[in-house]
Amino acid sequence: MTTTSANQTQAGIEDELVERVVASFADTPDPRLKELLTSLTRHLHAFIRDVRLTEAEWETAIEFLTAVGHITDDRRQEFVLLSDVLGASMQTIAVNNQAYKGATEATVFGPFFLEDAPKIDLGGDIAGGATGQPCWIEGTVTDTDGNPVRGARIEVWECDEDGFYDVQYDDGRMAARAYMFTDDDGHYRFWGLTPVPYPIPHDGPVGKMLAAAGRSPVRAAHLHFMVSGPELRTLVTHIFVDGDPQLEIGDSVFGVKDSLITEFAPQPAGTPTPDGRDLGERDWARSRFDIVLAPEGI
Ligand code: BEZ
Ligand code: FE
Repeated sequence: MTTTSANQTQAGIEDELVERVVASFADTPDPRLKELLTSLTRHLHAFIRDVRLTEAEWETAIEFLTAVGHITDDRRQEFVLLSDVLGASMQTIAVNNQAYKGATEATVFGPFFLEDAPKIDLGGDIAGGATGQPCWIEGTVTDTDGNPVRGARIEVWECDEDGFYDVQYDDGRMAARAYMFTDDDGHYRFWGLTPVPYPIPHDGPVGKMLAAAGRSPVRAAHLHFMVSGPELRTLVTHIFVDGDPQLEIGDSVFGVKDSLITEFAPQPAGTPTPDGRDLGERDWARSRFDIVLAPEGI
């Protein structure tokens, strides 16, 4: 046992510091904030002590977090990306979206949602000039008792065939995103693009961290949904493409859930489309995703 000149063991010195920091938060008026700060202190100190953090490593960590801050602006959120690749985003989702009856599972939100996407009529095309294989997507929105949710708002967004979201281009385009409302029977349908795998932004500190860890930045192919209805828990989720090899390799932000892996059935050129759209010589695909919303407050 290491003993200091003041006759304290090394462990005693470390324990005493933790308790002093915890005590400094004792008078935090908001009880929840007090709980968060106390627990954060205990876990952070436990980590430092567990790995016996060196001063050089501490400096590297500060430099890393500084770089994460510097690259963050209103178009790039590197802190969210960091949370995503550490699985912290998915853990927060797990804690806050507990399984309820047959409710559809939630997954990561990601940084590419926009508030002001265009509205489409049911059966409309979200592509807005984005390139990719056309894909017909349809389904229902119901509550957990099987009642159709009429007028549910469905936001969808995805990348183009080159793996980029509209916001990643510098020309201000708005493409491959839209919102629509379910009909009286809770049905929805639209034309989108068959999703492709793509890398999360990896030209910054988080990308460097992934490279240092030998990890890939690539996400399994997916299409984002955010679905809301009166007195129902808003669902943020994706559908993933059954058969996408990236599902086996792994998703860089841990977003895949088996229940969200969906068939995208290939349709050879010339196959009649559900709405009579003429796609000429192009192949297309179709998929069905029935969405079940949990009650609000569950
Ligand atoms: C996305 O799916 O859009 C995404 C999720 C997490 C990090 C980056 C992108
Ligand atoms: Fe995405």
